[in-house]
Amino acid sequence: MSDWKSIDYFTDESLVADPYPYFDELREAGPVLPLPHLGMVAVTGYEEASQVYREAETFSSCNSVVGPFATFPVPLEGDDVSEIIDRYRTQLPMFEHMVTMDPPDHTRERALLMRLLTPRRLKENERFISRQADRQLDEFIDRGTCEFVREYAQPFTMLAVADVLGVPEEDHQRFLEGFGLRPSAGEIGAESADGDLNLLSWLDDWFAAYITDRRREPRKDVLTDLALATYPDGTTPDVAAVVRTASFLFAAGQETTARLLAAALKYVAEHPDTQAHLRAHRERIPDFIEETLRFESPVKVDFRLARRDARVGDIDIPAGTPVAIMNSAANHDPRRFSCPAEFDMDRENVRQHMAFGRGSHSCPGGPLARVEGRISLERVLDRTTDIRLSEEHHGPAGARRFTYDPTWLMRGLTELHLELTPVPGTG
Ligand code: HEM
Repeated sequence: MSDWKSIDYFTDESLVADPYPYFDELREAGPVLPLPHLGMVAVTGYEEASQVYREAETFSSCNSVVGPFATFPVPLEGDDVSEIIDRYRTQLPMFEHMVTMDPPDHTRERALLMRLLTPRRLKENERFISRQADRQLDEFIDRGTCEFVREYAQPFTMLAVADVLGVPEEDHQRFLEGFGLRPSAGEIGAESADGDLNLLSWLDDWFAAYITDRRREPRKDVLTDLALATYPDGTTPDVAAVVRTASFLFAAGQETTARLLAAALKYVAEHPDTQAHLRAHRERIPDFIEETLRFESPVKVDFRLARRDARVGDIDIPAGTPVAIMNSAANHDPRRFSCPAEFDMDRENVRQHMAFGRGSHSCPGGPLARVEGRISLERVLDRTTDIRLSEEHHGPAGARRFTYDPTWLMRGLTELHLELTPVPGTG
């Protein structure tokens, strides 16, 4: 019999299929809890997680993606390790991306990004997303079956980011091939498509070419806006900085949103009553998406490093401690969400989940992910009269089988096999 004291969050395979009992156990032992492994403190309470996210001066983001695996060449000793963090942060994984930065660098990079993700840009992007949802559905709707992750969610979410960045539609096929989402003509290996930023060097090359081209010859297009965007102080970022921002958006925005879409479709396929309700009340789709984000948060955990001695809840956290903010656990905190294990899109505080984090690093792609979720649901409901799980792949009701990505960072189905009855004449 294992319990939280013997389970290693990073290696225990039993947590892949269903991590929620473990998260509940941690929270019951204490919403802020020092773990026996890797000197890490787990934060599973909602209020406590909000506090850590908000206290950016106390908790550095330098380890936000890899947590306790961000190791320094010297011991993190003393009651304030800020100087050590600042001296060695460029030796940590992903240091060049904004998600691991602290002010003032983070403030600068984030401002650059926000000049790109404007409400106007997102509005234009929405039209593309709508068209793309239909194109994606066209590929399998007549067949009446699909593997939704591979045939819809992954290509759709990748192209949504490509369009936000202004990648011309004639280049979309190349992007699908580059990400391994379509057979490649040969020049780009599908093995580059494992989400590892360094392996996506072709993406950097293409963006560098776009940016250099638009700086030389500005046009009336989004890539030109991207190429000419300046930092708040008016200086122009070098090409590499713009390319980094662009490729990070793919890393941050594609797999996360694909997991949200798969979780939403799984729920709709498994719950005919909810499906019928959403068919009759399309205006409820946004709340349904919010509850999916709370119920199956795609990013299970974010990390911070205590710069100085701190206190969260009743627990002292010494400087140098890696802190795991367990979003999925905070989103199931019964002190914030009543009956958290129940999916209830009518709950009053349905938008209070922290699937997008909180504070200065909170997800700037949230509005885009929400639009992708809403439009996907609308289009798939518009074009079908019924959506079911494939029993051949997932087993009969009462004995379903699903597989989840074996990662400690993300929560998502590896496959979702659906059967769809198309509306006559719309296939
Ligand atoms: C359901 C989909 C998504 C989820 C659950 C999600 C989740 C998150 C979370 C939890 C963070 C905070 C990281 C931290 O505080 O350490 C974050 C940051 C970020 N997300 Fe998302 N995200 C999603 C979609 C997107 C999309 C569509 C984009 C853009 C196209 C995007 C771009 C980013 C960026 C650039 C950051 C870093 C922001 C910063 O460091 O200031 N995300 N996301």
